[in-house]
Amino acid sequence: MPRLITLSRAARLVGVKRGALQTKIQQGELRTFEGELLLSDLLHAYPQTKVEDSTMLERVEHIMERAVNKIIRPEEDVPDSNTLAARILVLGQELAQARQEARRYATLIHELKQKIEELARDTEETQASAFSKLQAWFNEALESRLAPDDDTEIIAKEAFLRVMAAQVRILPSGHEFLIEGSDSILEAGLRSGLALDYGCSNGNCGKCKAKVVSGQVKKITAHDYVLSETERGLGYILACCNTAVTDVVLEAEEAFGSYDIPRQKIEVRVKKIEHPDERVLILHARTPRTCRLRFLAGQYLSLQLDNQSPQDCSIASCPCDDMNLQFHIPVTPGSPFIEALENHVKSNTVLCIEGPQGDFILNEDSPRSLVFIAVNSGFGPIKSLIEHAMALDTAENIYLYWIITPGNSHYLGNLCRSWDDALDNFRFTALEATDSSAVEALLPGILADLHNASGLDFYACMPAPLLEPVENYLTRQGIPQGQLRLEPVRMGAPA
Ligand code: FES
Repeated sequence: MPRLITLSRAARLVGVKRGALQTKIQQGELRTFEGELLLSDLLHAYPQTKVEDSTMLERVEHIMERAVNKIIRPEEDVPDSNTLAARILVLGQELAQARQEARRYATLIHELKQKIEELARDTEETQASAFSKLQAWFNEALESRLAPDDDTEIIAKEAFLRVMAAQVRILPSGHEFLIEGSDSILEAGLRSGLALDYGCSNGNCGKCKAKVVSGQVKKITAHDYVLSETERGLGYILACCNTAVTDVVLEAEEAFGSYDIPRQKIEVRVKKIEHPDERVLILHARTPRTCRLRFLAGQYLSLQLDNQSPQDCSIASCPCDDMNLQFHIPVTPGSPFIEALENHVKSNTVLCIEGPQGDFILNEDSPRSLVFIAVNSGFGPIKSLIEHAMALDTAENIYLYWIITPGNSHYLGNLCRSWDDALDNFRFTALEATDSSAVEALLPGILADLHNASGLDFYACMPAPLLEPVENYLTRQGIPQGQLRLEPVRMGAPA
């Protein structure tokens, strides 16, 4: 029987990005059947797939996890014994069904063979030779089909992946992700880059309510929020308090734009402030566990220090790690806000944040590869977008050009180089302009470096005065306006 496999599992099995599979589908090299792939087509497209390849994939995933500041997961973080037992039970049922089918086919083939032999005996000589040819072909075909083939190990590995990680499919978007260990559905969804609806993350608000359409889930945390009897009867659960035992299909709310994200006011605690160079401060802050910041990658918020006017600051971290926020703040000499930040804010100082705002967010519907251009500390929101793109794992290629002007540095150049080293589809280019007006002069080189620039999506963040000339140049060179998103470096202007 043809074996179907979901895109997420297929990507993991052959060790490629989901975006690479999507490109093959668009180019007609892989067929899909209701969103799933035939295992035989997959192995045909990736004939070098070996079971051992998973070690390389795991290594890259580990580097990627560290690269995008995800929480490092303990080695022993595997599903609990009940979850494993339930998944093995489902596999056992499938195996029993497959065996039953195989027995029926075997009986049928045996009867067919006997019938051919019978007909060959009872027919005239010329027909007899045709039958004997048919018989020879049938025996040969049977032998070759029944011989064990190379797919066996891959099929076994696919079954193993199914035991270790359940898959969640969200309706109506069709987004899918895998749940490792005993993570909650909400945690795993956020880590995969989805903007699922939620509030408290701990079972109090009911905002993560989702309806189970199929599959089996399990409560992992008790919750105070009470689902009505009707809701329970209809299959509603709280995504922050449940994990998936088997593959699951859920109806759940997601944010598709900044208009879906509510404005929030949260007190955060400073973890540390770093001074990677004289022109930028990196502020690390942590939200309370029960009151995290819901935002989209690339957005900004207003940061309030005691006795200071609030300032707009872009968020430089990924929504997949919503408790740990990062801001790259350009140092403007003489700014009272910077002085207060440098002199009065220490580890554990409580700050108030309000937001998020802004539409400098990824166009997730676009199938195009991504180009990011950052100038100086404009790298902050670009970093957030790149980490989000990595979590989504759909872009075929990601190109980062980080331009600095005199006096500035590629203050997180090592991080960018580690992405470049770890990911086949990521390329980092560090550029230096002789002065701020020379930024535009670097654009022809960037476009020449890209293959078919007009078929790519551009995201650029730089000081406000540079935006217009850069936008004009790129559109004159044929980059469609709809594929260009620009953002000024936020900071300095009172919110
Ligand atoms: S996020 Fe509040 S109950 Fe789940």
